[in-house]
Amino acid sequence: MSLQQQVVTEFERQFGAPPSVVVRAPGRVNLIGEHTDYNEGFVMPMAIDRATWIAVRPRSDQTVRLHSMDHDETTEFQLDALERGKGWQEYPKGVAWALREKGYALTGWEGTTICDVPLGAGLSSSASYELAVARAFAGVSGFSWDAPKMALISQQAENQWVGVNCGIMDQMISAVGEQDHAVLIDCRTLETTSLPLPEGTSVVILDTATRRGLVDSAYNERRRQCEEASRYFGVRFLRDVTLEQFDARGKQLDEVTRRRARHVITENARTRMAAEAMKRNDALCLGELMNLSHDSLRDHFEVTNHELNVIVDLSRATRGCLGARMTGAGFGGCAVALIESVQAGDFVKGVVSAYRDETGLNPAAYVCRASEGASEVKMVGPEESD
Ligand code: GLA
Repeated sequence: MSLQQQVVTEFERQFGAPPSVVVRAPGRVNLIGEHTDYNEGFVMPMAIDRATWIAVRPRSDQTVRLHSMDHDETTEFQLDALERGKGWQEYPKGVAWALREKGYALTGWEGTTICDVPLGAGLSSSASYELAVARAFAGVSGFSWDAPKMALISQQAENQWVGVNCGIMDQMISAVGEQDHAVLIDCRTLETTSLPLPEGTSVVILDTATRRGLVDSAYNERRRQCEEASRYFGVRFLRDVTLEQFDARGKQLDEVTRRRARHVITENARTRMAAEAMKRNDALCLGELMNLSHDSLRDHFEVTNHELNVIVDLSRATRGCLGARMTGAGFGGCAVALIESVQAGDFVKGVVSAYRDETGLNPAAYVCRASEGASEVKMVGPEESD
């Protein structure tokens, strides 16, 4: 049974009637442009074919009541009396809080939710959850859907309610993703350009099965180092430092800050070059840029861990691989590889077994397709469903 059918079936079991609105919002994988979003730079993620689904119907009061099938737990809160707590409930509460902060009039609702974005793997299950909740509110409260605005509101929920100091990439791509396309996002203007993958290539996500939380000092420390480098160059964000300026003036920076700045400045250049490569249908160039991105994250930004480096090296050594790198915040989680589609089956088998042999860990691997961003789903009548 598809996730959509499962969430609707559970809704009907709990409420005795079909939902009036069903929404979904995807997780993401970033192809290139890592640790650039909070420097107002460029990223090129794609929304993946794994998502959070919510089936809902409006209520006449200010209560939100949501049953999570993944946690087998129901949460209930009042829109006009939101209180901080702990756990998955903070995502719907945080989005409700941020929407109200921005002046949206919200209707209460009840519903069920299910998610197949793996939690804590670096594939943005939290952004997918936030955007799904925002989409559910839009569906029942009747306000119009403005994708970048909803991404910013969801980011505000994550930063100020959940307390994770993330950039805009994850929420943006979950909001604006496009089927069969990666999306180049300018994190300053939120301008987007959708680009298809080079012909004959596929994206594989490789989960190292190692984890390290984001609410983590290392992520915030990188942000501080980037701010310090910006101050040195006299700009607000590293986005505004060119490679020439870096070469001319970077030498006086202390060694660590210089390496952090070098990563961000070169990664912005690589991401724009990757977009150009995609426009030319140049898979080899895109793959090479992904390789360089990983090497910079490993050597200059220092956010990989041993397992990420192992899975990336094994991927590169496996037939059909055009490029491989860590994806997301780093320190654990997933890598992404661009491969020749015809080699997909053997590639996945080869990397999984080599990684298992080398680390003793059990990795997961998904060949994934780019999906549409947060959307309201047309309900299929019982006679039409299979
Ligand atoms: C996490 C954050 C994003 C971004 C990446 C690194 O996924 O949520 O905003 O900073 O790390 O590129």
